[in-house]
Amino acid sequence: MRVQNRKDEPAAYETQIIQTIRQDEAGTTQGAKLIQAGELVAFPTETVYGLGADGLNGEAVAKIFLAKGRPADNPLIEHVAKKSDVRQLWRRIPKQAQVLMDTFWPGPLTLIAPKSDCVPDAVTAGLDTVAVRMPQNKTARSLIQKSGVPIAAPSANRSGRPSPTTAQHVFEDMNGRIPLILDGGPCKYGVESTVLSLAGEPTILRPGAITREMLAAAIGEVGVSKSVLEPMREGETAASPGMKYKHYAPNAEVIVVLGSPEQTAKRINSLIREAEAEGKICEIAATEQTKHFYKGKKHIVLGDRDEPVTLCTKLFSVLRDMDTRADVIFAEGIPAEDEGLAYMNRLLRAAGFHVIDASQA
Ligand code: TXA
Ligand code: MG
Repeated sequence: MRVQNRKDEPAAYETQIIQTIRQDEAGTTQGAKLIQAGELVAFPTETVYGLGADGLNGEAVAKIFLAKGRPADNPLIEHVAKKSDVRQLWRRIPKQAQVLMDTFWPGPLTLIAPKSDCVPDAVTAGLDTVAVRMPQNKTARSLIQKSGVPIAAPSANRSGRPSPTTAQHVFEDMNGRIPLILDGGPCKYGVESTVLSLAGEPTILRPGAITREMLAAAIGEVGVSKSVLEPMREGETAASPGMKYKHYAPNAEVIVVLGSPEQTAKRINSLIREAEAEGKICEIAATEQTKHFYKGKKHIVLGDRDEPVTLCTKLFSVLRDMDTRADVIFAEGIPAEDEGLAYMNRLLRAAGFHVIDASQA
């Protein structure tokens, strides 16, 4: 129910949550009505929760920016329910796009290509390209299909916060700001989709579960934007505007420690002794390989260092959880390659690139 509406503030709502695991029909039908009425609906995807609006309605899309507090120059992804829907959004379908869509859609891969005239400027932040993806999640697809329009959606967090991987996370950030959250349970991957630009040479702007190696096996050479592992420098223009903002960051200080499991754990333990002496509350995002080093210290196991996908799944939810208690969060770095690239991309941003190399004495 809408309570109030001023132009410079998001409208106030009594936010409703509907579980779609048991009530998918009811939830997505109500969601689609809201989308068609130009309102916002948060919905699950296999990556993270999205905050959706009618992707062909500029005024509806503008509400997303207001609800999130998102800078207006950061473009959104259009979500489609079937592959042929890209035809209305892109001026033409790049040749590699067809192969990639056939190989990886539905799934966690976003493709960028020159946009058609029907895509509102609010979605693309004035760029002449548009990002599109077809999610795998059943609730997401049913919502898009019933809405009858592509759904423009960023991650459903307040701007600058870690992306939400449960409906509860969305509620924490969006309660009172949107009318409806569809609750499809925890997200399968836990990090956002791979973003691949096909506007020029194929280039990864944001790494995800679909890795460079998987893309290259389908279409040949694929580049990786250098902003993936580096902070933006002053005056640099971003290939992907999202890269220039503080991202994925909890309020607590996050410190990444690099090295072998043993080196890493030893250094974290000594850093904690120093921080605790200053009265700081510390927690550790640990791994299967290191957990036995942290006995008696507050730690949560993210997953297995040799299977970075497991680390990705829990990263954002563990950061959000620890942020409710800790002043300092220590996390372990891993090699930034293959599936490790997505993990390190998110972790380094959460840490504001604060890295300590424990392999150096
Ligand atoms: O998994 C996902 O991609 C999730 C779910 C909800 O689908 N969505 C998501 O959206 O992560 P968002 O808005 O949080 O991130 C989209 C990223 C931003 O970094 C944005 O700058 C970039 O994609 N992007 C979108 N359109 C672009 C374009 N035309 N050119 C370059 N970068 C673009
Ligand atoms: Mg986001």
